[in-house]
Amino acid sequence: MSRETNEATERQIRSLLQRMTLAEKIGQMTQLNGDEGRVSDALADRVRSGTVGSILNEVDGPTQQALQRIATEESRLGIPLIFGRDVIHGFRTILPIPLGQAASWNPQTVREGARLAAAEAAASGLQWTFAPMVDIARDPRWGRVAESFGEDPHLASVMAAAMVKGFQGPDPTAPDAIAACVKHFAGYGASESGKDYNTTNIPENELRNVYLRPFKAAVDAGVMTFMTSFSDLDGVPATANAFLLTTVLRKEWGFDGFVVSDWDSVRQLAVHGMTETDRESAFEAVTAGLDMEMAGDAYLSHLSALVEAGRVTVAQIDERVGNILRVKARLGLSDRARTPPCSPPEPASARAIAKRAAVESLVLLRNDHRVLPLDRAALDSVAVIGPMADDGYEQLGTWIFDGDPARSVTPLAALVEGLGPGVDVRYVRGLETTRSRTATFDEAATAAEAADVALLFVGEESILSGEAHCRADIDLPGAQVELVRRIRRTGTPTVAVIMAGRPLTLTNVFDEVDALLYAWHPGAMGGPAIADVLFGIESPSGKLPISFPRVAGQIPIYYNHKNTGRPASPGSVVSIESIESRAPQTSFGMTSFYLDVDPTPLFPFGYGLSYSSFEYADIEVSAPQMDMAGSVTVSASVSNSGPVAAVEVVQLYVRDLVGSTTRPVKELKGFRRVELSPGQSKRVAFVLTADDLAFYGRNQRRAAEPGEFHVWIGGCSTTELRGEFRLRVEDR
Ligand code: GLC
Repeated sequence: MSRETNEATERQIRSLLQRMTLAEKIGQMTQLNGDEGRVSDALADRVRSGTVGSILNEVDGPTQQALQRIATEESRLGIPLIFGRDVIHGFRTILPIPLGQAASWNPQTVREGARLAAAEAAASGLQWTFAPMVDIARDPRWGRVAESFGEDPHLASVMAAAMVKGFQGPDPTAPDAIAACVKHFAGYGASESGKDYNTTNIPENELRNVYLRPFKAAVDAGVMTFMTSFSDLDGVPATANAFLLTTVLRKEWGFDGFVVSDWDSVRQLAVHGMTETDRESAFEAVTAGLDMEMAGDAYLSHLSALVEAGRVTVAQIDERVGNILRVKARLGLSDRARTPPCSPPEPASARAIAKRAAVESLVLLRNDHRVLPLDRAALDSVAVIGPMADDGYEQLGTWIFDGDPARSVTPLAALVEGLGPGVDVRYVRGLETTRSRTATFDEAATAAEAADVALLFVGEESILSGEAHCRADIDLPGAQVELVRRIRRTGTPTVAVIMAGRPLTLTNVFDEVDALLYAWHPGAMGGPAIADVLFGIESPSGKLPISFPRVAGQIPIYYNHKNTGRPASPGSVVSIESIESRAPQTSFGMTSFYLDVDPTPLFPFGYGLSYSSFEYADIEVSAPQMDMAGSVTVSASVSNSGPVAAVEVVQLYVRDLVGSTTRPVKELKGFRRVELSPGQSKRVAFVLTADDLAFYGRNQRRAAEPGEFHVWIGGCSTTELRGEFRLRVEDR
């Protein structure tokens, strides 16, 4: 925004505030849920009287236009409404769930997907989405891990910025731009025991070094709105947490957009036990810094009395309302209210974007004897088995309000098309749903026995992840493990494609298949994307944005953990089977491990196979020392030592050996997608500055601290190709 625009906007805001009544100001702070295409007299009167500022979940164009006309032409001051909706991973054309999009490690693809979603949503009259969700998630039991970008603050930050820029576009006043809303501020992903809405206790140091980083990245990318989290953060629910909403967001970060609560979370402050009444809840929220109340009436019912009682000042109200008016002005809503919505994107281009996103989201976790890619010319018969093989709804995933399953192309449909009439494709669903417990697998086994390859499509229906849909046991649900084992017993080469909204514990199926492709919930074009990868038209390039535990008992398990004073090492791990009876109490172990499970993840953060293979060598650090004002360049060679051209996600990790607070054993600091043809090598370099090494230390100030650093470059967080350098304070 140009300075002139800003100053003009601020003048406009001040002028409006001077003319607004208290009731009109409180109206702007109130968001109502839409009435599903109806404009009741009561709603029309509310809008006409200026006592509502936003409506969510109204997607009927004529209804929106009718309401907007009342707001801009019949209300006293003509302030436009802002229409919001959860456009989380696509609007009409559903993209992979955000966790799958993060697996692409491709911010450009994520940005294009958000741009498409914004255009489709804006064409339906929406101006605001409640996305991106950037909650750092280390607990796959939590259903909302599906909406997250995974466990790493750097990757989540890059994806947050990409999605914000995609939604808001280069010009937020453009007809195909919508305001983004970064959520849920903050720390929601740390919900205890993986249960949604549960308590979070996060030390400030961890909050700042991990959970707040993607939110700050969203601010730096120009996000226009925030949404508070339902959760209780260290005893103070986020919706009324002045440390978050004022100290961090406004004073430290200088954010000047507006903050909306989550659904009715103002009144839930009393349920938390922070307040006794809705009036006290309204007081706590508005004084902490919450601008707008979503789908609740605490503000509408009590703010006026709080002002009259002198407990809330008009200046505080004006500050809240000013934030809302500023976003409406920056979106150009008054002008947009008078112009028809933009036309929706061409379906063909929408499908192409959704397919690209799905292809890049796929992560190959196993490929024994190179059973993949399939050689179509050598196939006579293929068995396609499982409840996720041909279900255009379930492959879409959670939060698909306006998605159209009829637009989905399923794996079965894509495989039949790709294999052509010369190959006998035998499809057997095998189980009615992924949760079905009873089924005979005879038909599926017969199909597999007769086939050259069995393609298993298993996983989770979409309802098993998302908000409030948490699982304590994250194995494949229902009788799917039995199905996989039954197909294994036929001896036919078996490829499992897993669609799920979270990492599943796969220890009980991993050895039952020859190849394993993780597809998350891949969205509308998941079928063609999976088929292209299975046929080798595309080589899988996805990398895990989150660790996969062996068993749920390991959770939380994440790569960027602290070293502890007694870290486990392969030599220190003792298995329960090897313990002699009555062994002396302190005779073994004494490090941080389990007697009964390997302490490492089944698949680590950053892991993903390709149809080719990549070798890393010759890591170099440009200098052994770096000053605070300087930088070092870390580089390595990466070579394609395999048979096909492919993309590798080259990753840079850093470890700060000593800090005023303990530091993670590895932290992702950079990554780059590199395309290499067979035999080709490239040198990949990353520049590190002191800012890249900065963290919040014991005094909660962000700074880099002198000392020794290790750096790694590789294709996974377990890379051992290591360099080192020292960061020093300049000689005075
Ligand atoms: C839900 C979710 C939030 C969503 C909002 C509006 O409860 O927590 O992410 O944007 O309500 O649907």
